Amino acid sequence: MEQKSLIETIGKQEWLDAAGDAVQPAVLNAFESAGETGRVVKDALHGTWLGHPLHPAITDVPIGSWTTAAVLDTMELMGEKKYAPGADAAVAVGLVGAVGSAITGLTDWTATSKEMRSVGLMHGMLNAGAAALYLTSLVLRRRKKTRKTAIGLSMLGYGVVSAGAYLGGHLVFGMQTGVDHTATSDEPPADFVAVLPEAELADNTMRCVKAGEVPVLLARKEGRIYALAHTCSHLGGPLSEGELLDGLKVKCPWHGSVFSLEDGSVAEGPATAPQPKYEVRTRNGQIEVRPA
Ligand code: FES
Repeated sequence: MEQKSLIETIGKQEWLDAAGDAVQPAVLNAFESAGETGRVVKDALHGTWLGHPLHPAITDVPIGSWTTAAVLDTMELMGEKKYAPGADAAVAVGLVGAVGSAITGLTDWTATSKEMRSVGLMHGMLNAGAAALYLTSLVLRRRKKTRKTAIGLSMLGYGVVSAGAYLGGHLVFGMQTGVDHTATSDEPPADFVAVLPEAELADNTMRCVKAGEVPVLLARKEGRIYALAHTCSHLGGPLSEGELLDGLKVKCPWHGSVFSLEDGSVAEGPATAPQPKYEVRTRNGQIEVRPA
């Protein structure tokens, strides 16, 4: 089976969809039941404070540690016993990193749907399986009698985590999870361009207009006009179909990210990248915008 059709098959598995239906609301409810603290923790786990998803950065810890363990284990099997303590330490460090990866990954997964959610769930299950193999390996490594079995379990875990990492790569590069969806190939005109007659934007309303080929969100609040990129940086939601909030903010209709109308900064996740801002002016009854 081709790699692409294998991933498509995973994305269409009904049992994964059903598991997602059961688990996703439970995780979201856990955050919501903690109120404002839950929201702050959830945003921190998404990486809103970092301006970049936190999960992919943390996954380097288990993958790097367990790669080191695989090398040191191989050297031990070749007779170099002195590498054994280093291999055991690398397995343990990888397990600590796996906990951080799991928590941040699960948080990001709450803001996915359809095939992306199913592939994400399979990615998480493979990594959880790998972590269980490494944990068992770590326990068995302590006894001389079971050391070879322990190393075998680690090697098996390395294969499983590599399969999980492959799906993780596809989630980012194939399905565009975690990438900045405002980074399109289309460039808006560099200079001011008329996008809408001023009379067509009532106070407390939003509109999607085009600057060249690029969709732009126009919002009018307390008489003032604001303009941001229209495509949500998180997963591409249409901001004009969201909510205009008090405090000069806009909420995305898809997963609830909130952005400042004044500067496009992220006020609430799951988005981690800000919305590009546009300068606004009115000339001859027309609203004009250009990239800020
Ligand atoms: S697309 Fe997910 S919050 Fe906007």
